[in-house]
Amino acid sequence: MRTNKTKARKLRHFLSLKDYTKEEILEIIDLGLSIKKDLKNGIHKDHLHKQTLAMIFEKSSTRTRVSFETGMYQLGGTALFLSSRDIHLGRGEPIEDTAKVISSMTDMVMIRTFEHSKLEAFAQNSKVPVINGLTDSYHPVQLLADYMTMVEHGLDTNPIVTYIGDGNNMTHSWLMLASKLGFELRIATPKGYEIDKEVLNDAYTFAKESGAVINIFNDPIAAVQGATLVTTDTWASMGQEDEKEQRVKDFQGFIVDDALMSHAQEHATFLHCLPAYREQEVSTSVLEGENSLIFEEAENRLHAQKGLMVWLDQQR
Ligand code: CP
Ligand code: NVA
Repeated sequence: MRTNKTKARKLRHFLSLKDYTKEEILEIIDLGLSIKKDLKNGIHKDHLHKQTLAMIFEKSSTRTRVSFETGMYQLGGTALFLSSRDIHLGRGEPIEDTAKVISSMTDMVMIRTFEHSKLEAFAQNSKVPVINGLTDSYHPVQLLADYMTMVEHGLDTNPIVTYIGDGNNMTHSWLMLASKLGFELRIATPKGYEIDKEVLNDAYTFAKESGAVINIFNDPIAAVQGATLVTTDTWASMGQEDEKEQRVKDFQGFIVDDALMSHAQEHATFLHCLPAYREQEVSTSVLEGENSLIFEEAENRLHAQKGLMVWLDQQR
């Protein structure tokens, strides 16, 4: 276990970008990029030597699991995959007890769960940093990877980002990123699938300070005019499987295809957190087109989260 000789500072968690300043977000991205550069040059530094990351998954995952597990290994530590089917959390052990026990034996915890309040309850009872690996409300680690991809491709200078689709955890996270960093974000959702009002109010508050421009639409064509980057997400998130059929009907007109992209700037970039459903929220031609950076974006989950874990460790 890690020991601290200096006086302990306030424990930092990573639950939402809401709790982070612009400077902190950029520091994490820079750290991730420098660790990525080392890896590409064959330089391995054990930034988290012998540390353990507990990963609790109450929902499925491909990218989040592989990136955190591989990332921790590459940083000199190890990761434990704990599915809710295998631990007592899934059988009713209180989240507070689970948090106290797991955080007494490990150095960091990542959780993917349903209610954001469950993640917060875990963090309140944890002795070690807790990372949001996706909740119904936010997916902040994805946005670190998305922004890292923007930086690497020079897309971070005066971007106009348009999000088309469901007002979900990804939309909320884009709102936090844009309003903290100060860029323009337009969101187009179908009627009845709008973003959470509280999240929007927070974004407007942060935007006053950062200079971000946030505009909300129900018309995808209006929202995409002149965009430099267009992004979307599945119409039915994890936990909404029963609503899928209805959502496919309600989201007609919200597919990101070549016709919609023709209203954006020429060569506008396309991002998607994945998994993607071809010919539903995005056409195959856009998803696999020359302006799509989806696989660079997915790979950056590894590099951005390594930056995050090292940064969180440095704050103790
Ligand atoms: N984008 C993302 O979080 O993917 P997984 O659900 O595969 O982890
Ligand atoms: N909104 C999606 C994101 C998946 C990475 C979901 O929550 O299922």
